Formats: sequence, C-alpha cells, structure tokens
Amino acid sequence: MPVERLFPTLVYSARLAGAAHLNERLLRECRQLRLDDRAGRRWSVKNYPGGYTSYGSVCRMHQLSPTFAQLQRALDGHIGAFARALDLDLTDRELTMTDCWVNIMPRGTAHGLHIHPLSTISGTYYVKTPRGCPGLKVEDPRLSRMMAAPPRRTGARRANQPWIMLPAQAGGALLFESWLRHEVPANPLAAERISISFNYGWF
Ligand code: NI
Repeated sequence: MPVERLFPTLVYSARLAGAAHLNERLLRECRQLRLDDRAGRRWSVKNYPGGYTSYGSVCRMHQLSPTFAQLQRALDGHIGAFARALDLDLTDRELTMTDCWVNIMPRGTAHGLHIHPLSTISGTYYVKTPRGCPGLKVEDPRLSRMMAAPPRRTGARRANQPWIMLPAQAGGALLFESWLRHEVPANPLAAERISISFNYGWF
C-alpha cells in the first residue's frame, strides 16, 4: 500500500528491574505519606475527590525519600531510551525529573482528562494495581481537528483508534510526551490503586 505513517504518537511501556522489592518499600512510603501529609489530604478533598494525591503538597518525592530517588534512577534509563526513540536532540541538554508525586485511588476516584503543560516527558509508575483496576486512557491528539471525520470501524487497527486504554501493571512504567491528553477512569474496585506520577523537563 502506498501509505506512509507520519507524525506518530509514541508511548513507552516497560517493567522496572527489581520492581517487586522496590514496590514493597514504595507502598509503605505512599501510605505513610498519606497519613503524614495533612495539607495534601485537604488539597485532595477538593481536587481528587475520594482519593489522595500529593500533587498539590509534596510533589518532589525524589528529593525527599531515598526510595523515590532509587525509583528516579531506575526511570532515568527508560527516559533516555524513550528520548532516543523520539529522536530528541539532547546535546548539551539533559532531561531531568522535576516532579514526582503519589496517587492513591480508592473505589470511585477518577482523574479527568488533562495534559502536563510545563514538561517534556511525563509518566506513571505503578505500585499497586488490583486485578480489574483502570489503566491509563490516552487520546488521539488530533481529535480537535477532526472536522467531518467519520467514526472509526469497529475493530479498526490499534494505531487508528481514537483512544487507547494502556493497562496499569504494578512494577511497570508508562511514559508519554507531556502534551498527550490522558485520564484515569474511576476505580470500580474496593481495593486501592496506587501509582507514582512524574514529569521530566530540560529547562
Ligand atoms: Ni497526568
């Protein structure tokens, strides 16, 4: 077929080495943070109903906790690999972690569509993902330009679908360019879904 694919949207998914051991400590620290972080719990009542996030209070966990710093070091290599896949020119520039925060979603908690406007690469690392918990839903960035576009066929190729649900798996990390709009649908389970989100930037 004389068809060429241009301007692809890349997402990166990998399991971190040593994840099982790291997750035991991360899980303890995430839960302890929720207990200690009164400001964050208050912020979450308004901005993350039913759940807890340290996004509005303690958003640089990699600078506070050796465990999160270890997570950052484990992620750095994957960020480098993703940057190479994107052909980013990082000569005399460095992508570094700028933010790193905790998200705990009990039943009913959701996180609506958003982008991470001040960053280059964003992502999430999964600490606890009970079977059946929601993944990360990413949306075709061109949706707002689709004037008079017919809907896609049922069973359309994955690359042509208007949105994709990327599965959340404990010990795994998902990376994407920060302009990619995404959301986490409501957790339908009684068990908590726990993740750590982060941003990388180069200035
Ligand atoms: Ni996000």
